[in-house]
Parts: sequence; structure tokens; C-alpha cells
Amino acid sequence: MEKIKIILDCDPGHDDAVAITLAGKNPAIELLGITIVSGNQTLDKTVRNALNITQHLGIDVPVYGGCCEPMVRKKIVARDIHGESGLDGPVFPPLERKAEPEHAVNYIIRTLMESDGDITVVTTGPMTNLAMALRMEPKIAEKIKQIVLMGGSYGNGNVTPAAEFNIVADAEAAYVCFTAGVPMTMVGLDVTRRALCYPKIVERMAKINNRASKLFVDLMAHFCKTQKETFGWEGGPLHDPITIAYLIDPSVLKVKPMNVRIDIRSSDSYGRTNCDIFDYLGLPHTADVAMDIDVERFWDIIEENLRLYD
Ligand code: RIB
Ligand code: CA
Repeated sequence: MEKIKIILDCDPGHDDAVAITLAGKNPAIELLGITIVSGNQTLDKTVRNALNITQHLGIDVPVYGGCCEPMVRKKIVARDIHGESGLDGPVFPPLERKAEPEHAVNYIIRTLMESDGDITVVTTGPMTNLAMALRMEPKIAEKIKQIVLMGGSYGNGNVTPAAEFNIVADAEAAYVCFTAGVPMTMVGLDVTRRALCYPKIVERMAKINNRASKLFVDLMAHFCKTQKETFGWEGGPLHDPITIAYLIDPSVLKVKPMNVRIDIRSSDSYGRTNCDIFDYLGLPHTADVAMDIDVERFWDIIEENLRLYD
């Protein structure tokens, strides 16, 4: 079976780290490059985190630093969830890996323009890098097979009542991406909040007892603690890896095509993904939105992929 070629654009971040773990080893995925954006923490920290994760797991994929600021709004980070480093908890050996000298936006443009149009762009952080690439070279829109993003929600947000972090952290960037006419799958909080990493899940993964599972356990120790402190849940919602799990096995999600518009005008609802589930407006469908998740299958995919490591 042909591998799915992806560029993973992310802001590691504990759940981004699990997405990298899945994409880095699964035989169905060809991870071409990892592009990094400011999001959960500042760019210097999210780049460092990506290098630590890939070095520690032996994922030999180039890492590219990208945009350090959103396109318009003031930068926000999520230190309450991911800590001062953006990946608090795990302790890594001395970092030797370096990021590539090429800027992530230039890498995205160059790779897509040189491609046969068979690359999926997965974003699990604010969409600044992809939006800037679309603005610098609009021709990449016809070269992107599809965008699969973790972001938004048709229900409540997690930063404001209206908006989810990856979108509200750079709503203008999301607007550029959602209006580019590229096939898109949106994995929002509506399904990611059903993939709660309860203690029994952590115990299940700990039994694998290899480098990847140990990292998973260390990541979840911090991530689940801060999610409980913030939201009161007994398990942290493992948002980002659901995008990769969906590529590995599309049956893990039920999606529905609909019109999705990003609110960049209002104050209270800035960064909201307005999902027209019932087609009230009769507008063109712009994204497949995840409506349900097979949680059992998702955790099976996590376990299967952690077992691929030594
Ligand atoms: O709202 C959750 C999303 O914001 C996840 O991607 C998390 O890593 C943060 O980037
Ligand atoms: Ca993320």
C-alpha cells in the first residue's frame, strides 16, 4: 500500500509529541518533514522540544523552525497546560540535533511545489506557517492533497467559550487556510475531548516498557495533571495524535462535510469555527468536520504505534 506523505506542522506540546511519535514510525505514513510554529510555547521552545522528541525516539526527519508570531493578533502561549518549557515533565539527554537552516514556510512552499500534489499537510498548532506559505505562493493550494488539522470545535472552545487554542492563537491564519479551497478535515474539540487519557490508559501503555512508552508515560504525567487542574478531568484529552490516527485508519472518525467559517471580526467570538452542521446557510462545504470518534480504536492505534519502537 502506498505510504501517505505528510508534512506535520506543530507546536510541541505534549499532545503534539504523541502525534510525532505516531507519524514517525507508522509504516503507512511517510513523514517528510516537521515544521514548527509558536503556539503552546514560544518558537525557540517548541523547536527545541521537537528536536528532543525526534532525537530521543530516533526519528530521522528534518525539523524546520517557522513563524514566531501570529499574522495579526498578539501572541498567546499555553504554559498553564504545557509548562514553561512547553514540554514539562520528560527529561531528555543532552540535545545534539539541530533544526534545518531553511525557514519552515520556505520548506513548505518548496516541498509542495516540487511534489506531484500527493502531500497531506497536518497541522496541530496555530496555522501561521501554512497560511504564510499560502500567501507567499498561492499556487501551493492546488498542490496540497488535503489539510488535516487539529483545531476548532462546533461546540465550546477551550480558550474562550467560543474558540479553541489552535484557531484563536492565530485566527487570521486559520481564515487564510479555511478559504484556500484545499480539501480539509477538521478534528475539533468535539471529538478530541472524548479521547481522555485516563490512568488506566497510561498503565496500559506503561506495560509496553520501551523508550516510546516511557516517554508517553512521562508526557502524560504532566499533561493529565495540568488538564485536571484546569478542566477538572480525570484524563487529559489527547487532541493532536487523532489527526495521525485518522490517516492511519480513517474508520477511527466519523466526519461530516459542511461549511466552516472562521470568525475574525467579532470580539467575544474571535477565533470561533462556525460549523454549519445543518446547512442553514446553504453555502459550499469547506471542510469535513469530525463528529464522532471510535475511542477504543484510537487507543489501540496508540498502543500499536508505541510498540513499533525499541
Ligand atoms: O486546543 C488544543 C490544541 O492546542 C492542541 O493542539 C494543543 O497542543 C494546543 O496546540
Ligand atoms: Ca498542538
